[in-house]
Amino acid sequence: MTSEEILKIVDEVVAPWEAKDGNLIMILHQIQNRFSYVPREISFAVAERLHIPLARIYEVITFYHYFKLKPPGKNIISACLGTACYLKGAPELIAALKNQLGVNPGETTPDKQFHVQVVRCLGCCGLAPVLTVRQKVYGQVTPQQIPDIVAEYSPERAAERN
Ligand code: FES
Repeated sequence: MTSEEILKIVDEVVAPWEAKDGNLIMILHQIQNRFSYVPREISFAVAERLHIPLARIYEVITFYHYFKLKPPGKNIISACLGTACYLKGAPELIAALKNQLGVNPGETTPDKQFHVQVVRCLGCCGLAPVLTVRQKVYGQVTPQQIPDIVAEYSPERAAERN
C-alpha cells in the first residue's frame, strides 16, 4: 500500500468514530473487517491520526483474541468450544484438526490455506459439536470427518488422499 492509500483508508475508518468514546475498538473492527487482520502500517497511521501511542493500539489488539496481527489463512476454520460443543467432543475435533493441518488454534498453516480459531458458541448448539469453514456450518462433526472437510477446501490435500 502506498502512503496515500493508507491515509485514505485511515480517513474512511476513523471519520465515523472520531468524536466518540471507546472509538479505538470500533476503528480496529473496521480495519479487521476490511483486511481480515490489522496491518502494522495501518496501526501506525491510526495512532498518528488519533494522537495516541502505538502501544495503546497493540494493547487492545493483544487483549482481544478476536483481532489478528497477521493475515489469516484463506480458509478460516472456527471450532466451537462453547459448553454444548465441549461436552459433545469439541476437544477431540480440535485435536483432529491439529493432526490434519499441523497447527494449533490461533495459527495458520505454512501454505496459508487454513487458519484455525476457537470460538465460544456459534448459536447452533443443537448441532454440537459444530465447526464452520468459510461460514459454512458443519454439525455433529466427528474427528473422522475432519480429513474430508479439509479436503473440500483444498484440492491438493484431496489429491494427496487419492
Ligand atoms: S456451544 Fe457450540 S454452537 Fe453453541
